[in-house]
Amino acid sequence: MNTRSAVICGGGGFIGGHLAADLLSKGIKVRVVDVKPTSEWYQVHPEAENIVADMNLRDAAFAAVKGSDTVYNLACNMGGMGFIETNKGLCMISVLINTHLLMGAREYGAKRFFYASSACVYNGDKQQESKIETFLKEEDAYPAMPEDGYGWEKLFSERMCRHFREDFKVPTRVARFHNVYGPFGTWEGGREKAPAAICRKVIEAKLSGKHEIEIWGDGQQTRSFMYITDCLKGIHKITDSETWHEPINLGSAEGVTINQLVDLAEDIGGIKLKRNYNLNAPKGVNGRNSDNTLINKVFGWEPDTRLRDGLEKTYKWIYQEYMEKYGGKVAVQKPAPIGAHVREKATAGAR
Ligand code: GDD
Repeated sequence: MNTRSAVICGGGGFIGGHLAADLLSKGIKVRVVDVKPTSEWYQVHPEAENIVADMNLRDAAFAAVKGSDTVYNLACNMGGMGFIETNKGLCMISVLINTHLLMGAREYGAKRFFYASSACVYNGDKQQESKIETFLKEEDAYPAMPEDGYGWEKLFSERMCRHFREDFKVPTRVARFHNVYGPFGTWEGGREKAPAAICRKVIEAKLSGKHEIEIWGDGQQTRSFMYITDCLKGIHKITDSETWHEPINLGSAEGVTINQLVDLAEDIGGIKLKRNYNLNAPKGVNGRNSDNTLINKVFGWEPDTRLRDGLEKTYKWIYQEYMEKYGGKVAVQKPAPIGAHVREKATAGAR
């Protein structure tokens, strides 16, 4: 598939901003659409056509899609566990975005439609053990028991992609992202995921001189974290494939406990902290890792950036952002707001 023009829906968000830069560098004509005002986009690329619009609405979604070969749908209301556990209804409303974009892609004959799904589609029963070896295979999404709210929306939207491909010949491709991190992502405000949150907390401990850190859960939970450049490589492979169209894992298989993630961040920050475990905080599943057998078989590749390397770059970027924003003072972090009033904060996808 040779894309000449692309629209990135949710392109004001973390992954979308990086994807836009990447496509522009390849000489592709890029339209970026996001519900947030451009002042809140993570990256704004002046060479792109930048549009502020709410793709929950049919007309805006159709206008976004019109005239582009490839549609990337990264738009949804999302965040780390602190956000999705307390905003289930809001997360489910994103079903409108994918529905309208798929209808638009059908109407205007898009050559490709990429949908950013998530590891949150996997059956919760398979993720009960805090083990690094909790490798999730693609078939583990069924029988369906995904993450409540956010995961159900993702699973339904995946399914809709399948039926639009089968019934209406919209050439859909679906990746299941596993916790993506890197520079130009959310690091405060309540939507941040563990890698950015832990980096920020280490930085705050250093700045305040209070050498303690709050960790959600008991720290034994396991996850794998995918660096943004791997995510981009995978998006291209999956989108451009002429043969593979089923949902496929896009994640790192380097599993760690959250305690090990904190070890790494402490090491990068050059500090050791007293750990306070908050067992009442949002925790999500006990164990999750990406089984990369299929992606290796289909594409002869899997995400391979070491967590230590990606986290170091992320830590440095967050440190700079922190200093720029708060000038070396420690900010009081507020939890993410709950409810419909955060609709305007809808941002690029996952995971
Ligand atoms: N966010 C966050 N902040 N998580 C923390 C913190 C903290 O300060 N301290 C410990 N954790 C723990 C959480 O309790 C959770 O067990 C684990 O770190 C990972 O949390 P997140 O990174 O917030 O989310 P997740 O991995 O459970 O799910 C994320 O990735 C999915 C894809 O793999 C979410 O972003 C989902 O939306 C996404 O689908």
